[in-house]
Amino acid sequence: MERTLRTLHIEGSRTDTELVRAVLSRSSMAEFVVEAVSTLGDGLRRLADDEDGFDVIVLDLHLPDAEGLTTFTRAAAAAGAVPIVVCTGSGDESLGITAVEHGAQDFVVKWSSDPESLGRTLLYAVQRSRQLAELQRHLVESTDAGDRLAATNAAIREFLAMVVHEIRTPITVISGYAGLLRDAPGTFTPAEQADSLSTILLQTERLRRLTDTLLTHEGLEAGAVQAQPEEVCVVEAIDTALAAAGPAAVDFKVSCDPGFTARVDPAHLQQALVNYATNALKYGAEPFTVAVIEEGGGDEGDRKIVIRVIDGGDGVPEEFVPRLFGRFARSDAARSRKGVHGTGLGLSIVAGLLHANAGDAWYEPGEPRGSRFCLRIPSGH
Ligand SMILES: Nc1ncnc2c1ncn2[C@@H]1O[C@H](COP(=O)(O)OP(=O)(O)O)[C@@H](O)[C@H]1O
Ligand SMILES: [Mg+2]
Repeated sequence: MERTLRTLHIEGSRTDTELVRAVLSRSSMAEFVVEAVSTLGDGLRRLADDEDGFDVIVLDLHLPDAEGLTTFTRAAAAAGAVPIVVCTGSGDESLGITAVEHGAQDFVVKWSSDPESLGRTLLYAVQRSRQLAELQRHLVESTDAGDRLAATNAAIREFLAMVVHEIRTPITVISGYAGLLRDAPGTFTPAEQADSLSTILLQTERLRRLTDTLLTHEGLEAGAVQAQPEEVCVVEAIDTALAAAGPAAVDFKVSCDPGFTARVDPAHLQQALVNYATNALKYGAEPFTVAVIEEGGGDEGDRKIVIRVIDGGDGVPEEFVPRLFGRFARSDAARSRKGVHGTGLGLSIVAGLLHANAGDAWYEPGEPRGSRFCLRIPSGH
């Protein structure tokens, strides 16, 4: 067995510490070198002064100095790229599921697992997080044109790693809640039951959006996306897109002359606006605005509609701007936000769709701060 996995076990109960040590020492998945601490404080200190780095963290969510989801969020902030597998008591599975929604790699229930399944869970957690790290490295390296084939292979692997990661979290959450609702319906109040079902629907919706994104991406890559331009009322298109971007989008103020029309494929404009708006809500902050102007001289054919989706958040770091509309591009800040999910395909799709519609897409820093994501399309009439 070649794999040695340095494991930090943060666990309040001595019995459980010994149990996990014993279970992992019998695992054939890898050689686990386990270091155990009994409080979150000790765990955070260990993470801060560990130079070689742990491969994986096993985190009990009930500790003497921290309780519940907070335990995870505090550990995650100190863990950086080290994957965290949380453990909960039986009867407490929904907490484990919530932690996965917030970015934990996985959860285990104490101690329903045999040595192989605990070992496997940890090994897979490590492998997935390494694939993602490699993916990020390839992104930077694969711009070297001299190494086309390697870059293509790397791009395919990157893509698969990203897809697996994006699909796995919703599946874990959906199957977790569905299992609980079936097996232990009595433990839920009616309100909790409704909440769990809403979460299931939300995660299903996330999977649906993901498959839509992948299909559009694939279509654009294959050159198969053709625009069917129509005369579109701009303010109506914006209102529809904001409604589709979710309930939080009511915070957007729209400034648009109701007479503006554009000549564009309505579905493509929708998708571009939804991507911009959901990004503003995910990565930006108030105030949220959509501002529309018409540009161009006296010649009717040259008139253009410019739509800016503006937020007052941190904006995009200057060094990241050149890659912003490239595929798989996500800033370090976006990646390290636990619980904020993404493929890094949204903006490359926006750019591809705008190109197919004789338009263009670009970024401008906000004034005095924040982001302005812009697009330009031909005017109607
Ligand atoms: N409004 C915004 N404010 C700050 N950063 C943003 C904003 N919109 C997008 N970004 C950055 O651009 C990246 C790429 O966005 P996108 O292609 O939509 O991918 P995803 O949303 O899947 O991360 C994001 O990960 C984030 O780093
Ligand atoms: Mg996005």
